[in-house]
Amino acid sequence: MAERTLIIIKPDGVQRHLIGEIIGRFERKGLKLVAAKFVRVSEQLARRMYSVHKGQSFYEALVAFFTSCPVLVTVWEADGVIAMARKLMGPTFGFDAEPGTIRGDIGCSNRYNLVHGSDSPESAQREIALFFKPAEIAEYKLGDEAWLYAKTD
Ligand code: RTP
Ligand code: MG
Repeated sequence: MAERTLIIIKPDGVQRHLIGEIIGRFERKGLKLVAAKFVRVSEQLARRMYSVHKGQSFYEALVAFFTSCPVLVTVWEADGVIAMARKLMGPTFGFDAEPGTIRGDIGCSNRYNLVHGSDSPESAQREIALFFKPAEIAEYKLGDEAWLYAKTD
């Protein structure tokens, strides 16, 4: 199976009407969407999602932000998808991110950075399991996979 990653359009992306803009960038890259749900995340789930940041000065505010309105939670599949998605997103803070990236093009904030993407295969596996049962992840073929994913010598 190809690598998977969890991508979340965060509350600022929803509030700023940027869901389509952000999802469109992953789609146009050629990544394969295999799951999606629009949910208001509970405080308990937000704490588990961001448990690696527990104890950091921004942790409580991050949990409050993440639970402040519904978010679009998605799973994407492709070889190397974790690194490709992180490149499309750009560095964590919008004011540091290069133009051409999601955070660089449409954000200036630190905490409000529009999108979450898993940072390793271990994180992806843990995060996907927080939001989706295995049966909720679609298995299908894209008609243009040969064009999208060819790696010639
Ligand atoms: P994410 O996990 O959301 O994809 O973002 P990331 O890997 O680029 O950044 P990470 O270091 O994991 O931080 C998680 C989220 O915490 C918020 N944050 N606020 N100083 C602050 O106020 C601060 N620092 C981080 C951001 O929303 C960041 O995405
Ligand atoms: Mg992170």
